[in-house]
Amino acid sequence: MDFTCSSLKIEARRTNCAVVAVHEGRRLDDDGKRADAACGKLLSQVLRRGDISGKVGETLSVHVAGFAADRVLLIGAGPAKGVTPVAYRKMAASVASALAKMNVKDACVYLQQVEVEDRDAAWKAGTVAGALADSTYSYTATRKASPRRHAKTIIFASGGRAQTKPIQAALSEASALASGVAAAKELGNLPGNVCTPGYLASQARALGKAEPSIKVKVLNEAEMKRLGMNTLLAVSAGSAQPAKLITMEYYGGATERRPVVLVGKGVTFDTGGISLKPGATMDEMKFDMCGAASVFGTMRAVAQMGLPVNLVGIVAATENMPGGSATKPGDVVTSMSGQTVEILNTDAEGRLILCDALTYAERFDPDVIVDIATLTGACVVALGNIPTGVFSNHDPLAHDLIAAGEYTGDRGWQMPVWDEYQDQLNSNFADMANIGGRAGGAITAACFLARFVTKQRWAHLDIAGTAWHSGAKKGATGRPVPLLTEFVKRHKARRKQSKR
Ligand code: BES
Ligand code: MN
Ligand code: ZN
Repeated sequence: MDFTCSSLKIEARRTNCAVVAVHEGRRLDDDGKRADAACGKLLSQVLRRGDISGKVGETLSVHVAGFAADRVLLIGAGPAKGVTPVAYRKMAASVASALAKMNVKDACVYLQQVEVEDRDAAWKAGTVAGALADSTYSYTATRKASPRRHAKTIIFASGGRAQTKPIQAALSEASALASGVAAAKELGNLPGNVCTPGYLASQARALGKAEPSIKVKVLNEAEMKRLGMNTLLAVSAGSAQPAKLITMEYYGGATERRPVVLVGKGVTFDTGGISLKPGATMDEMKFDMCGAASVFGTMRAVAQMGLPVNLVGIVAATENMPGGSATKPGDVVTSMSGQTVEILNTDAEGRLILCDALTYAERFDPDVIVDIATLTGACVVALGNIPTGVFSNHDPLAHDLIAAGEYTGDRGWQMPVWDEYQDQLNSNFADMANIGGRAGGAITAACFLARFVTKQRWAHLDIAGTAWHSGAKKGATGRPVPLLTEFVKRHKARRKQSKR
């Protein structure tokens, strides 16, 4: 799907489908009125019949004659005074699903006039383009599915010359972002017998080939052993698939700027290990690598945009299986940081692989470290499936992540990482236990990770509730690639520490 921008007036632009706003009270805006005049007032007739009221997200397709457009897709745009960004996003999603059902080769979108609080024309075009691009994704790797029909070209009307450049920039960024989101969805959706740690490593190498600006390195278990990554290896111990520690480095910024380091949980299947999970919906634990998938997707989007930033992606990839050499409840292991951990529950494995990956991340002299993980069911209990849980030892960092999520509609909500919770991790046999009881389970998981990043600005994104849909629409969402990409794009990194 290609996106372009044009300032041609609606009555002159030939297209299969003109997408036009209808506000509450069945009112057309200026573009709508001109289209109405050009097709002999057919639109006002249709509106009077009352099949569409103007509520946000409603759609109605009208075939017209004698007008440059073959059809007009009317889209409910709420009150004429303006809508919220969330409402505009809903309109964009409706446009995408309505167009997907139509047999059109191209469409022209006239929705930049709709007033949205604190958002400009470029944001609006990027938002609609993103929704349209995302709607072209379908999973076909292991099933026959009729390929989705979708428009080849989408033209965005600009309100004047001054808007053309920013809209064009937003459109090309929307394409790059969509390709990152699609990559994350695809990795998430692949079954656990295909998407193994070794497969993730091969995909990293493939990404390094496709984007020469990304340098890839993969550590095997022997190399991890030498580094002392025993908590990570305690998780892979019960699996026949060897664990991999994958590093992807992108240096698009000035060399003296410290990198943003992303660390992704890549548990390609989580059975719980010896603390075995119940059977119902266990299949969904193939999505337990969605944090890793979001690191891949963000690297791809950032590299495609050619952003002038330095970004390192680290993926800790392993299965969590109950094999004969699996870690047992009560086992004590020494992490790469030197701290010992009593593994009371082998199902709390995400924090075990992340803690070593976080220690490893320090060698990149990071400006900030952000880990992304489907870490706890407790986070889903706390926040549901709407926002990602945001935890940080540095409030301005949490704030920046949440702001990036607000802008892209990939929202997060801050949770505390207070020291008062740390006592729940006390152990009689090690420096800490790997679980902290039922109360505040998402927070004690974050508190566990916090012990491994004492010298760095760090945030943790718990995406257990946002990385995939369950039920009839079961599938990966590609979140939080939009949040992360926007964060990386905006981030002003500090200079490197001078070497002593
Ligand atoms: N991957 C799961 C978390 C999860 C569970 C995400 C369900 C989404 C849906 C994680 O490894 C896990 O099993 N966490 C345990 C932690 C507990 C043992 C302290 C959990 O949430 O139950
Ligand atoms: Mn688990
Ligand atoms: Zn897990």
